[in-house]
Amino acid sequence: MLIDKFNRKIDYLRVSVTQRCNFRCQYCMPEKPFEWTPKEDLLSYEQMFKFIKVAIDKGIKKIRITGGEPLVRDDLYKLIKMISSYKPDIDLALTTNGYLLKQQIEKLKNAGLKRINISIDSLEKETFWYLTKKNVLENVLEGIDLAIRSGLIVKLNSVIIKNINENEIIKLYNFAKKRDIQIRFIEYMENENAYSNLKTLCSKDIIKRIKQNSPIEEIDKKENSAAKLFKDKDNYTFGIIEPYDDSFCKTCNRIRLSANGDLIPCLYYEDSLNIKKSLYNNQKIEKVLNEVIEKRPEKNKWSHPTKIDTSSKQISSRAFYFTGG
Ligand code: 5AD
Ligand code: SF4
Repeated sequence: MLIDKFNRKIDYLRVSVTQRCNFRCQYCMPEKPFEWTPKEDLLSYEQMFKFIKVAIDKGIKKIRITGGEPLVRDDLYKLIKMISSYKPDIDLALTTNGYLLKQQIEKLKNAGLKRINISIDSLEKETFWYLTKKNVLENVLEGIDLAIRSGLIVKLNSVIIKNINENEIIKLYNFAKKRDIQIRFIEYMENENAYSNLKTLCSKDIIKRIKQNSPIEEIDKKENSAAKLFKDKDNYTFGIIEPYDDSFCKTCNRIRLSANGDLIPCLYYEDSLNIKKSLYNNQKIEKVLNEVIEKRPEKNKWSHPTKIDTSSKQISSRAFYFTGG
């Protein structure tokens, strides 16, 4: 079992399989050109799997594949298959922007994928295009419905940005409710790679909008979940994710592996150890894993942007397309 200094059991691994993406979401990728890690520095599936096997043997029970956009690797089902063959009962999930789902959903499902989170920040063609820089709303909507039909457990993620898509909260809510899938509204987290004009709409305001539409009450969240859960009068459940809040740190059970092999103890700190040099030997892999778990801090260090003056503001320099969110 993997347990950190603050007595938290670590059983959730997020694996970013690429930094690349076919979208350029304003809250994630910079406006100006930037450089990717060179291909030769990225881990192969075989290298990832070597690490994943050890992590599973040490107690990892849930794995989420992230990016960048993981489906830009069109053979992703091969990694899913490797993992699910090694441990068929593992909770195996994927986070995607949905654009390439149509081509891959069947292969992913057959390979053993169980759950999928799809990002959708707008249901309006123009806003979707403006936010993601890609005019493919229809493909994503089709991807969502195909994922539901395939029998996977589907959730939606919507990052809410002031003055851009805040007017669509109820529309997104109803879209998800109609399909009986959970939607989680995410407070936008400022970071160095995002466009500088974007502003966070804090969770209080997101909840206020929803309450104006229908009565809701907070319900117990699942242990380790990053989202606070609510239900409405029809028992429809949705979530709110507050990246600035540190209350979920108390039960945080996750570590992250980046596409170039950095093992990251906490999303909110710059710290990491690269696993590449340890991959020839399982004991060495275990050693890196234990060291990274030892480094896990107690809680995140960000203050909410609405609560502090801008001069002392700390914002994240680590890119979401690097850590996979
Ligand atoms: N703030 C909050 N969430 C973000 N994501 C990416 N960038 C940000 C950000 N700046 C999350 C969203 C998106 C997923 C891929 O990563 O949930 O849907
Ligand atoms: Fe791509 Fe996801 Fe970043 Fe958007 S948020 S640019 S879909 S990695």
